[in-house]
Amino acid sequence: MVTLIQNGRIITSADDYIADVLIEGETVTTIGRSLVVRADQIIDAAGKYVIPGAIDPHVHMELPFGGTVSSDDFTTGTRAAAFGGTTTVIDFAIQYKGKTFQETIDDWHAKAKGKCAIDYGFHLAITEYLPEHKAEIGKVVDQGITSFKIFLAYPGVFMVDDRTMLRVMQSAGEVGGMTLVHAENGDAISELVKNLVAAGKVEPKYHAISRPPVMQADGVARAVKVAEVARAPVFIVHVSCEAAMVELQRARDKGNRAFGETCTQYLFLDETCYDKPDFEGAKYVFTPPLVARENIEALWKGLKLGYLQEVSTDHCPFNFKGQKELGRDNFSKIPNGGPGVEDRLGMVYQGAVIERGFSLNKWVDITSTASAKMFGMFPRKGTIAVGSDADIVIFDPTRQQVRSAATHHQRCDYNLYEGMHVDGVVETVLSRGKTIIDKGEYTGRAGDGQFIQRGASGII
Ligand code: URP
Ligand code: ZN
Ligand code: ZN
Repeated sequence: MVTLIQNGRIITSADDYIADVLIEGETVTTIGRSLVVRADQIIDAAGKYVIPGAIDPHVHMELPFGGTVSSDDFTTGTRAAAFGGTTTVIDFAIQYKGKTFQETIDDWHAKAKGKCAIDYGFHLAITEYLPEHKAEIGKVVDQGITSFKIFLAYPGVFMVDDRTMLRVMQSAGEVGGMTLVHAENGDAISELVKNLVAAGKVEPKYHAISRPPVMQADGVARAVKVAEVARAPVFIVHVSCEAAMVELQRARDKGNRAFGETCTQYLFLDETCYDKPDFEGAKYVFTPPLVARENIEALWKGLKLGYLQEVSTDHCPFNFKGQKELGRDNFSKIPNGGPGVEDRLGMVYQGAVIERGFSLNKWVDITSTASAKMFGMFPRKGTIAVGSDADIVIFDPTRQQVRSAATHHQRCDYNLYEGMHVDGVVETVLSRGKTIIDKGEYTGRAGDGQFIQRGASGII
């Protein structure tokens, strides 16, 4: 299959110019002005942005969590991602106690294989690190899983102690891997939760009250310091508040290899969402929670100045009906997580480019290129260049849309951004040369997406 994309405005994290893109098979083979070539398919992109497929490095498809399972599986979740212009996701293969790393990875491969609409990778989330696990780490890296995740939250479920954190960081660092950290003070939070529930404070808003920003800042401070001792790189996931970002920045200023992301929801929504009536605040129960409004501008500034490297979603949807409702009488029983994999590229365009004057290059960087580099996929992914995978989005900046559960493709009965008007529409999406979204219609099929073996981080 030969595809020619004509006259588009090609925007990468570094460039911005009008040209044609020739795709042969799965790969970009030529970029130039007025190319005269034979093509099976010609796409007229005049007046449109032609950008690298977005990368969401933090999703949880069909994750058993909080007494239920996240509502998007690899089929529905990756198809929704495609509609939103995302062509690669990285999910977390989470080790359950007693499982080896290899069993964990095999389980996740079994869940995803043959189902995905777009390419995908895994981080390995380690919940138990015994001496016998050490020998496994190198084998994990050899399979293209070069990042490891630990939780400093959810005691009794996923949380690890500081001894385990140090071991994981040291071992990951020795094999050129990166350790991702969900940074909170899980033990102190669980005590706060217990006290609130005992006092009859059970509404969704107490989820946020039980996890104040300082508890997240504490987790970040601890993680970056242990990483420093381990002489290893660290990446803090879902930074939601300025206090936590400042700890990260402090570590970077010292010269440490400390990086981080925020998520779409923290760039638009604040803690007042928990005051919605009729238990609707439960829709915003994810961890870390939404915080005070003033943090939003701090996070945008952090992205602009490079304190944070990218925007992910932490897509982990649960339906309001039947799932969020599990915690009607007790906020601690509300499954933690929210939808967003389909919304991110467009929402970040609105928030960054339209509302805050970020360059188009920066938009591409924080939604695609930075993640490709951070997680060992660049330049195969994250750019439009000769030799790169033809993961390409054609984005029409002249149209508008309204984000809504009525029109989204995520398997979730609500949308976090319900009713928000945004500029720009994802019109056409190519995944390794195949058109999977054609003028807003899905033309791909489950199984188009391949597992991506990632290399070492290109940032560190
Ligand atoms: O609430 C969240 N974020 N759920 C998904 C698991 C995690 O902590 O990333
Ligand atoms: Zn987390
Ligand atoms: Zn997560």
